[in-house]
Amino acid sequence: MTDMDIRLTVNGRLQHAKAGVMRTLLTVLREDFGLTGTKDGCSSGDCGACVVVMNGQVVNSCMVLAAQADGSQVTTVEGLASNGELHPLQRAFGGTWAFQCGFCTPGMLVSCHALLSSNDNPSREEVLTAIAGNFCRCTGYQGVVNAVQQAAAELRSANAEAVLQHD
Ligand code: FES
Ligand code: FES
Repeated sequence: MTDMDIRLTVNGRLQHAKAGVMRTLLTVLREDFGLTGTKDGCSSGDCGACVVVMNGQVVNSCMVLAAQADGSQVTTVEGLASNGELHPLQRAFGGTWAFQCGFCTPGMLVSCHALLSSNDNPSREEVLTAIAGNFCRCTGYQGVVNAVQQAAAELRSANAEAVLQHD
């Protein structure tokens, strides 16, 4: 069977790849596009190290066939920073000891970023629900909760300031 040509928009950039029968979105992101922030922890949908957002949904990219991703919009951890500036969530992870080895961190960041895009003031329980599929073997989860709530507060404050400046 010939490989299928696929096109997907990754972090705002149109990309092309060959999708062999068993190739996953995770493999294409890492091997074809060089986006190695997305990690392969288990290849079986159990750890969340490979989480990306595809068409607005948080997915384990190891469980998505590359062919299924044809035509989709994908955001990886590399897409969270903008104009060379880390997202407030990324800065907060550093400030709250939300990681040690960092292997789970890209997936955690993508899950938490997706939460913040729909909830500007998440409770501890809401954060824990959002990262229920992201396993961390080092740090535990309280630092992640603290980071999300700190970033949420910073984003609310920035938004309030922007509204004041427009009035
Ligand atoms: S590598 Fe995809 S869930 Fe573990
Ligand atoms: S910081 Fe090491 S697995 Fe989470």
